[in-house]
Amino acid sequence: MLKKLFSKQINMDTLSVEERVALAKSEPIPAHVAIIMDGNGRWAKKRAMPRVAGHHEGMKTVQKITRFASDLGIQALTVYAFSTENWKRPKAEVDFLMRLPVEFLGSFLPEMMERNVRVEMIGNPELLPAHTQKALYDAMEETKHNTGLVLNFALNYGSRAEIIDAMKGMLEKVQEGELTIQDITEECVTAHLMTAHLPEPDLLIRTSGEVRLSNFMLWQLAYTELWFTDTLWPDFNEKNLLEAIENYQKRNRRYGGLKGEETT
Ligand code: IPE
Ligand code: IPE
Ligand code: MG
Repeated sequence: MLKKLFSKQINMDTLSVEERVALAKSEPIPAHVAIIMDGNGRWAKKRAMPRVAGHHEGMKTVQKITRFASDLGIQALTVYAFSTENWKRPKAEVDFLMRLPVEFLGSFLPEMMERNVRVEMIGNPELLPAHTQKALYDAMEETKHNTGLVLNFALNYGSRAEIIDAMKGMLEKVQEGELTIQDITEECVTAHLMTAHLPEPDLLIRTSGEVRLSNFMLWQLAYTELWFTDTLWPDFNEKNLLEAIENYQKRNRRYGGLKGEETT
């Protein structure tokens, strides 16, 4: 309400980030924000640097955005870090990407503990190198009692693989007599996905100007609000997230029905 009165009269650009945060918090904040972090390679190329330098800079953006998401009161932040298709990249790049969680979680863990952040992951951990798995499992174990922001890494994640696993899980239960065919509802499918314990994403952000989903959360995104920006992931900052949230807060989520004035 405050924001509606305010934003009609005031150009948001003239407000400080703190003022914009306060206004954003006076409206519903998306519970779950999912981000397709794209453009690391192009960021590096623009600077005549190797692609991996872009990935390293992108890791710092994850830290910055985790802090900000936690300050904003977002419940869950899912970051797409490595897709099931990214194995197609040169081995040296894949190796570098697989070492990043070790560095990220090693250096950022104390701060995540202070900020009450819980680390989780979706995707198949089995194909990840042992050091990547260990960093993830250690961080998940250490933060498992934290009750603040869930920082959910999608690592070796592919939505189609996830849906196939969910189907297999349900079929096994049918074979064992734990489920009947009639039990297979939307809720049942949702409960068999790796995101079962998370709210559905309210807002999806993809950086770098690409306008596609690249096998990310295909089931979960059915009614998610989408935000695409040309900003490359290493350049993405607090103001960019705030802009996406402010835009989200102006949208009318109808879920196929009618809302607001149209219902009268
Ligand atoms: C995103 O940046 C990170 C991963 C996919 C791992 P890219 O590496 O895809 O960067 P571009 O798209 O080549 O610029
Ligand atoms: C999507 O980015 C995957 C991640 C961000 C981890 P890509 O750069 O791999 O996607 P495409 O190949 O451009 O679709
Ligand atoms: Mg890319």
